[in-house]
Amino acid sequence: MADTKATLTIGDNTKDYDILSGSVGPQVIDVRKLYANTGMFTYDPGFTSTASCESALTYIDGDEGILLHRGYPIEQLAEQSSFMEVSYLMLNGELPDAATLEKFTHTITRHTMVHEQLSTFYRGFRRDAHPMAILCGVVGALSSFYHDSTDINDPQQRTIASHRLIAKMPTIAAMAYKYSVGQPFVYPRNDLSYTGNFLRMTFGVPAEEYEVDPIIESAMDKIFILHADHEQNASTSTVRLAGSSGANPFACIAAGIACLWGPAHGGANEAALNMLREIGTPDRIPEYIARAKNKDDPFRLMGFGHRVYKNFDPRAKVLSKAASEVLDKLGINDPVLDTARELEQIALSDPYFIDKKLYPNVDFYSGVILSAIGFPTEMFTVLFALARTVGWVAQWNEMISDPAQKIGRPRQLYTGPSQRDYVPVAQR
Ligand code: CMC
Repeated sequence: MADTKATLTIGDNTKDYDILSGSVGPQVIDVRKLYANTGMFTYDPGFTSTASCESALTYIDGDEGILLHRGYPIEQLAEQSSFMEVSYLMLNGELPDAATLEKFTHTITRHTMVHEQLSTFYRGFRRDAHPMAILCGVVGALSSFYHDSTDINDPQQRTIASHRLIAKMPTIAAMAYKYSVGQPFVYPRNDLSYTGNFLRMTFGVPAEEYEVDPIIESAMDKIFILHADHEQNASTSTVRLAGSSGANPFACIAAGIACLWGPAHGGANEAALNMLREIGTPDRIPEYIARAKNKDDPFRLMGFGHRVYKNFDPRAKVLSKAASEVLDKLGINDPVLDTARELEQIALSDPYFIDKKLYPNVDFYSGVILSAIGFPTEMFTVLFALARTVGWVAQWNEMISDPAQKIGRPRQLYTGPSQRDYVPVAQR
């Protein structure tokens, strides 16, 4: 909605640009006509000042530490909702009533098995392959198995593909884990919850019954909720960009998984726990703080800092509390948690971190909980991908239904040689 105008003058060329308002948050200057009007592009590496799309899914106020999904604060969803309910909310815009939630849960549960032939794919990976490598490959391969849900112009097929991705991701992730530890795959069971089922497929073995521990199930479900979506972050933007060309949903989500793997993004939870273990004891913290502040050292405090949050990451607050609760309830005394708490205190009182507004992010405490549950660090980013699949498919669906959607095609500031003539190799 255009409220006011921004006027841009370049030399003697003056043009007005609409200022658009969302429901809440910063206004945006609509620069779509800028190139036609001026022959110039905007320059914004890392998109720090660019809104790439319109979206009604997730709102973040980085200065206030607010995260809303469809308007609901993340703290309320993490404490009171379930991952299935949040998934429905993200896909459909409203919280479901009891019957609708049951129907949705039933639908997702009935899609949890993967085509039997898919299991042979795993055998092609080295047995010590990183599970994220397996996840990228196997999710991409889904498009060769589910041809009946790859027509992106058919809303029904898009819905089925979305349900399939949400439902199959735990099965595929658990199979990646099982493959890496040399244990047989465990089939899903329909009488368990989404999260309970995932835990059983991951930690159960055919030789004995696996009892889902309600403490672990609830902590895991909370972690899934906290990772469900996060606005136009790198992997979500990757999914949207891949999808903007008309690529099928399975290929788009595989692209998102590849992007999430990086240590500056989803890979940070693995890196954060490795860092805390490397620090080992609180007395070594000052050494690592000094390294993080040293411009000549590429080391960064993993699990600290965020592009958008310049106040506390609200997800980190929920997880910090959950980490203590889970470890207490499980009777685990992990010195890594003490190191994490001490590091947080020292960093938060250090002028370097205060001035740069660097606070713990979601990855700072998630690793401590996941490790207490029994996951190896290589699985941390896989769990992030599993949960984020909900956000990715919701964002992808929103993009496809958006009449303003176009293929993503950024431009550039070219700094290479201008035109020159080819010189045959003998004359060079
Ligand atoms: N440790 C030490 N210094 C840092 C850190 C850190 N973790 N993060 C940022 N800085 C410094 C950085 O050196 C820079 O200093 P200067 O202005 O003097 O050059 C300043 O703070 C701004 O950093 P930036 O890299 O320009 O900020 P960004 O918005 O591009 O990067 C970030 C955000 C998350 C990539 C970065 O903070 C980082 O690398 N953090 C560690 C990795 C991490 O925990 N990532 C998880 C993010 S949350 C989950 C997710 O989204 O996947």
